[in-house]
Amino acid sequence: MPNLAEKVVHWQKQHGRHNLPWQIDRSPYRVWLSEVMLQQTQVQTVIPYYLRFLEKCPSAEDLADLSTDELMQLWQGLGYYSRARNLHKASRMIVNDYQGVFPKTREELIKLPGVGRSTAAAIMSLAYQVPDAILDGNVKRVLCRYHGIYDNPKATATIKQLWDIATSHLSNDDPRAYTQGLMDLGANLCKRTKPSCQRCPLNEHCKAFHDNTTHLIPAKAPKREVRKENLYLLISLNNGHIGLSKRPKKGIWGDLYTPMVFDEYEALANYQPKHIPLSHYHHQLTHIKFTIYPYITTDHDPEHAVYEPLTAIKSATPTGIRGAIEQAKAWLSLVENP
Ligand code: ADE
Repeated sequence: MPNLAEKVVHWQKQHGRHNLPWQIDRSPYRVWLSEVMLQQTQVQTVIPYYLRFLEKCPSAEDLADLSTDELMQLWQGLGYYSRARNLHKASRMIVNDYQGVFPKTREELIKLPGVGRSTAAAIMSLAYQVPDAILDGNVKRVLCRYHGIYDNPKATATIKQLWDIATSHLSNDDPRAYTQGLMDLGANLCKRTKPSCQRCPLNEHCKAFHDNTTHLIPAKAPKREVRKENLYLLISLNNGHIGLSKRPKKGIWGDLYTPMVFDEYEALANYQPKHIPLSHYHHQLTHIKFTIYPYITTDHDPEHAVYEPLTAIKSATPTGIRGAIEQAKAWLSLVENP
C-alpha cells in the first residue's frame, strides 16, 4: 500500500489551511465546539458563530451555566438545533462527571451527546495528537475516489467498508496534520465537481483519477423524499411589539420563540377571526418543504405570548419565520407612516 498518510501530512503542512479560528488553540473544548458546528454547516458560515460562542463561553463550565434561551440565541440561524441542545447536555456531563476536565479517550468522548465516531476521532487527533480515523462527507469522497468505490457512500455496507479503509491508512506521523489534511484535501482539491486532480498529492495512486471517473464517484445517493406541508403563522402586534412564545422542546423549532403556529387554516381562523394576510413564502428543512402563510392580528393575546419590540427581537427565533417578521415590520411602518 503506498503511503497515503505521509503524502497527506506533507501536503497539509505546505498547502493546507492553518489560520482557521479553531486551529489557533487546539484545546479539546475548542475542537469539540468547532467540530459540532461544522457537522452540517460550511466553514464560512461557522466562523462568526464560533467566535461569538467562544467569547460568551470560553470553557465547558461557561457553556453549562448558560440558560437554554441564551444558548438558542447564540445558535440562532445555524440550524440543526439538536446540536446546541446536545452541546448543552454534554457540557453539563463534563462539569458534573469529569470535574470540568475534558475526557481523553474515544470511549468516553463517544458517550457525550452529539459526539459520533468521526467527531470523537477528530478530537482525539486534532486536540490530543492520537491517531484516530475520521470519516465525514469530504473524507468519504476522497477515499471512494482513491479506491475506486462506485457504491453509494451512504449505504451501511459502504460505510463499514470506508471505516475499515480509513482505519487502515492511519499512521503515527502527526495525527493532527493528517486529519486536518484529509479535511483540507476534501474541501479544497477533491471537490465534488471539477476536482483539482493535477495538484492533488494522491493522484499517483488514485483510481478515479486514472480511470477518469471522478464525475461518477461518489455515486449519488437515491433522492430522499421531501414532504410538503403548510404552516399558518399568526403574528400578534401591539404598539410596535410582537407576541412570541417558546415552542415545546420536542418537534419543529423546539425551544425557539415564534408567533403562534397552526397547521390548518381553519384552526387559525377559529382562533382569531380578525386577521390580515401577508404574502406566503417557502422554507425548506431537511425532510419538509413548508409553505408558510403569515397573518397579522392587532387584537393582542397577553395569555399566549411575551411581547418584544418587533424592530429588535432578542429571543432566539428560527430562520423560517424571518420572512414573516420582515413583512410584519414593513406592514407596521406603512400603518405608522401612511
Ligand atoms: N470540517 C470539519 N472539521 C473541520 C476543520 N477542523 N477544519 C475545516 N473544516 C472542517
